[in-house]
Amino acid sequence: MAKMAASIGEHGEDAFRKLFKFYKRRSPAPDLSNVVDFSKSVKHEKVSTTELNPAAMSDEEARRTGLRPVRDWRAFGLQGYPGFMFISNPFLPGSQQHWVKQCLKTYPQKPNVCNLDMHMAPTDTQDIWGKSADVLRKPSSRIREPKTLLEKLRWVTLGYHYNWDTKTYSADECSPFPDDLHLLSGHVAAACQFPGFKAEAGILNYYRSDSSLGIHVDESELDHTQPLLSFSFGQSAIFLLGGTQREDPPTAMYMHSGDIMVMSGHSRLRYHAVPRVVPAPEGDPLHPSLEAEGLAPGQDPAQGEASVIQSMEKEEWAVCFRYIQTSRVNMTVRQVLGPGQAFPLKDKRTETVKGYTEGYHDSQDGENVGLKRRRSSNSSDLVNVLL
Ligand code: OGA
Ligand code: MN
Repeated sequence: MAKMAASIGEHGEDAFRKLFKFYKRRSPAPDLSNVVDFSKSVKHEKVSTTELNPAAMSDEEARRTGLRPVRDWRAFGLQGYPGFMFISNPFLPGSQQHWVKQCLKTYPQKPNVCNLDMHMAPTDTQDIWGKSADVLRKPSSRIREPKTLLEKLRWVTLGYHYNWDTKTYSADECSPFPDDLHLLSGHVAAACQFPGFKAEAGILNYYRSDSSLGIHVDESELDHTQPLLSFSFGQSAIFLLGGTQREDPPTAMYMHSGDIMVMSGHSRLRYHAVPRVVPAPEGDPLHPSLEAEGLAPGQDPAQGEASVIQSMEKEEWAVCFRYIQTSRVNMTVRQVLGPGQAFPLKDKRTETVKGYTEGYHDSQDGENVGLKRRRSSNSSDLVNVLL
């Protein structure tokens, strides 16, 4: 079967889709032995180590965003993918929890935008956490209960809000980018030799154990000289990174909790997708890097003066813990405009009414069904898991 994964792509036509389907398949489950695992000490032949800039920030500055000193990070490159960097969980023990909580409690709040806003009144979506927390905290098996809003959350946008219909960002659909994530992103980009990076837009994706993210290229940002950063938390997933053509067979790799990916240079505009979440077997503890009970104020090693890492109430972590035991959250951070760059003037005729969208989430083997959407090389915006 491993052989199949390798040979499937050799016949040219849309090798990406074939591999997407291969890894997405439920029955029989695909052989995952060809999936590159950067966390393993024995490295795949295509994996190389990458130079970071250890002077990009002081150890203290790194600690303030929950990161280890840069000299301790394990960063890798992948043969055939110049500009792609993979940093294997550089977070301090106990600090990923902050970012998980931000994704579940803080970032979905207004004025940020989420998939639920597309078909619910603002009053109904303004306290997603508050409306879900009590139910999620309950230890009972809730199989027949309706899903909480948090469980229905698929995406949140930050900063310049990505418009899924027009596939553009604009000056008038913008809210303040969260300070803590801005700082974290600036640190990571600087360590990867992009000191001028400005976090201006974020797309957060929320995955249940059966979710997948369709094949796409992130090309809507106006400045492609800056990297795209991706932060993963919770359950592991398989990421497919291809070429600039759908015919280029992608490489499959694991993303574990705390892992960061950087797509820049020649890898900035490549096709990619997430065909599968790989949940830990039931009964297994959370990923060790996430295994920490509610952190009382002052206990967190990353806290302290000027730290953005907040203390966590036990009750809050109980909800996050519940959620993340079966789910995955990914934050992608982008710079939209280059220095001195501005958005083109809007052509009123191309304005569209916002339709319902699940963002990049997929249910059609990676393909864009094109509902209410114009064709574009940016494939796979897709309506999928109806609520
Ligand atoms: C995206 C994206 C990957 C992921 O949001 O553009 O590619 O791991 N996300 O969720
Ligand atoms: Mn993407």
